[in-house]
Amino acid sequence: MIKYLGTPHIETDRLILEKFQLNDAQKVFDHWLSDERVADNRINAAHKTISETIERVNKIVTGYESEEFCYWAIKLKDSGELIGEIDLYDFDKVTENCEVSYSLGYEWWNRGYGTEALRAIVEFGFRQMNIHKISAAHNTDNPASGRIMSKAGMVQEGIIRDMIRNSKNQYKDCAIYGILQEEFNSKNFVLQQGTN
Ligand SMILES: CC(C)(COP(=O)(O)OP(=O)(O)OC[C@H]1O[C@@H](n2cnc3c(N)ncnc32)[C@H](O)[C@@H]1OP(=O)(O)O)[C@@H](O)C(=O)NCCC(=O)NCCS
Repeated sequence: MIKYLGTPHIETDRLILEKFQLNDAQKVFDHWLSDERVADNRINAAHKTISETIERVNKIVTGYESEEFCYWAIKLKDSGELIGEIDLYDFDKVTENCEVSYSLGYEWWNRGYGTEALRAIVEFGFRQMNIHKISAAHNTDNPASGRIMSKAGMVQEGIIRDMIRNSKNQYKDCAIYGILQEEFNSKNFVLQQGTN
């Protein structure tokens, strides 16, 4: 059975993963939700106004009232800077599977933070929550996201043509990735060594 634990505080070498606060909205807007470079790889359009982001952060904070809501702010350990978000969602009671998604502010791309956060959440999902399988999808024109999935031990299962239609009315092919708990258990030693 899935063991729901809400959104607990998690630490990695360089990151703190913890709940969002209502007063995070301005940083969320400035660092990633208003940025077209980030939004181009997500389904929803970039936010044009801070009020859209306030509404979004309010919804996340309200979500914490449920133990089944797993939505982390990603912060740098050394400075406390809020750099992104990662969440587990779409928990299926029958299969005990779920999805993961994430975004980082452009300024912090390609420094290994995405891989570090995803590995931590995959580990949390399997070790603490007893999830059976974690899946994710990325636009095929966003290979960095596929790369971090691979580095977190996920394997590509196929490509779905025209899987999404984004806010710019563009269809996107998406690559689907997944990792089973039993694969995680056998791969985990390798991941901890950082050699994958
Ligand atoms: C996807 C995302 C979270 C990655 O985070 P990140 O911190 O930049 O990732 P990392 O630095 O840990 O790893 C990025 C990897 O992708 C690789 N990469 C970057 N750009 C690439 C490109 N154009 N083609 C191929 N590989 C690329 C990097 O070389 C690195 O791999 P390496 O460690 O083997 O060298 C970040 O780019 C992001 O937030 N993008 C916008 C939102 C988004 O795409 N969300 C996910 C939707 S599915």
